[in-house]
Amino acid sequence: MQQPALTTTASFQALQSHAAEARDWQMRQLFAADPQRFPRMTTDAAGLFLDYSKNRADARTIELLLDLARERGVEAQRDAMLSGEKINLTEHRSVLHTALRMPRGKQLVVDGQDVNADVHAVLDRIRVFTDKVRNGTWLGYSGKPVTDVVNIGIGGSDLGPKMAVLALRSYAHPRLKMHFVSNVDGHDMDAVLSQVNPETTLFIVASKTFTTAETMLNAQTARKWFLCEAKEADLPRHFVAVSTNTKAVEAFGIDPDNMFPFWDWVGGRYSVWSAIGLSVALAVGFGYFSTFLEGAHAMDEHFRTAPLEQNMPVLLALIGFWNRQFLDAGSLSIAPYHQDLSRFPAYLQQLDMESNGKRVTRNGRQVDTPTCPVVWGECGTNAQHAYFQLLHQGTDVTPIDFIAALRATHDLEGHHDALLANCFAQSEAFMKGKTAEEVRAELKAQKLPEAEVEALLPHKTFPGNRPSNTILMDQLTPATLGALIALYEHKTFVQGVIWDVASFDQWGVELGKVLAKQIQGELAGEVSPAQHDSSTNGLIVMAKAAKVQ
Ligand code: F6P
Repeated sequence: MQQPALTTTASFQALQSHAAEARDWQMRQLFAADPQRFPRMTTDAAGLFLDYSKNRADARTIELLLDLARERGVEAQRDAMLSGEKINLTEHRSVLHTALRMPRGKQLVVDGQDVNADVHAVLDRIRVFTDKVRNGTWLGYSGKPVTDVVNIGIGGSDLGPKMAVLALRSYAHPRLKMHFVSNVDGHDMDAVLSQVNPETTLFIVASKTFTTAETMLNAQTARKWFLCEAKEADLPRHFVAVSTNTKAVEAFGIDPDNMFPFWDWVGGRYSVWSAIGLSVALAVGFGYFSTFLEGAHAMDEHFRTAPLEQNMPVLLALIGFWNRQFLDAGSLSIAPYHQDLSRFPAYLQQLDMESNGKRVTRNGRQVDTPTCPVVWGECGTNAQHAYFQLLHQGTDVTPIDFIAALRATHDLEGHHDALLANCFAQSEAFMKGKTAEEVRAELKAQKLPEAEVEALLPHKTFPGNRPSNTILMDQLTPATLGALIALYEHKTFVQGVIWDVASFDQWGVELGKVLAKQIQGELAGEVSPAQHDSSTNGLIVMAKAAKVQ
């Protein structure tokens, strides 16, 4: 369906008039004026709680944003995605990561194929395989059980599994050590190979396409390293593949019996639920992996059925849109107050920016509003001691998503209260700030001379009024992690619908890949340097010169 340009829609224009006034609202006053603001601007779903009250928005703002969501057809497009319509227009594909977490037996037939049966057939194979590796009956070539698993993949074939394995650390198998190699930089592979023993190491080559240059080179390197000690016939006990490309897996020399398939309707950045999550299932066991899928499914069901005004992914998306569009927030900072979520910001970078980092609409017109903000972040409280200074007193407004668990999965005394106190204190400080009057009173109470008080005043004043969301869960478990990821997946989807961008392709990564291939040839001296610009030529010449030293 051809969407009208966003700025021409009635609901956008209503929001724009509203924003002329609302963007200057002071959150302190909004809280003072409405004692019901917290209950009014919070919602819960699938084991998660969202507080979006610390934003420059009120009930009217939300009403107008919901009108926009309706006018852009969020509900119809959500239903189209969930039912398997080919909403990935530039690649003519369905978008069905939600089918990967559907309970067994649910009906979903796409192009005459029973998707649910296919998904569960692979899950059954994952269960059998992971049980064997975990219970020590899958033996390496010298008869020893696996101690180390190395996932070789990049982008969605790395970020999701790595993030989830770290996040579910407390559920991990005590014998299995998980490693992730993604970078084509040999230092990455070298660091892992120096820690593992070929007799007890299992490599998972994870690549949707099985053509990604980094993964192919890393997999070849691992294979060569393995064959220094073992024989070709030993490969099947130590190399398995996860891919949609059976031919390429076979050509690489991995037995298709050792291949766990998935499908082209799973986007790379949405693939942790598929066999790409094999490392997660190995680490935590198939039982917990299933609970992880169930948590995501609970969020899918909420997204599918909840009215928009209580729909958590929709609300998170709309608030994000509001901040991006009307507060000129060019970036979004993710602050997990949970060390086990340390890779969550990196994971969200791909999810959000590869999906919605687009400048044309699905029909190829230039968009008429800004789209995806830059997503970045780091765990609290480390982030506080690094860049929160800028977030508090810098010139840009950067919205923050705080994410925390009410209960820890450790029992170390005192830590969790300290952590949560910091999390809540930061969102309060960003919202309230500290006025010049408050600073003056404080400095005067310290009996500082008048001149010094006035000199320090601008430095010690916090503008405040800086937006944030807080997402809470009881504990970080497989189920709540699943729900959290699904929440952000659907948030990304809703924003893509509002901007009318093609959220499920990523053509922007192609140009660099082509040029890298050409320059790699030039560095190896296989072809004469093509006419690059003088900078690129100069850099190539320097690298070639360094090789002969
Ligand atoms: O180049 C980007 C990308 O295609 C991502 O979308 C994807 O997650 C990653 O590369 C890895 O792709 P593959 O799983 O096919 O190796």
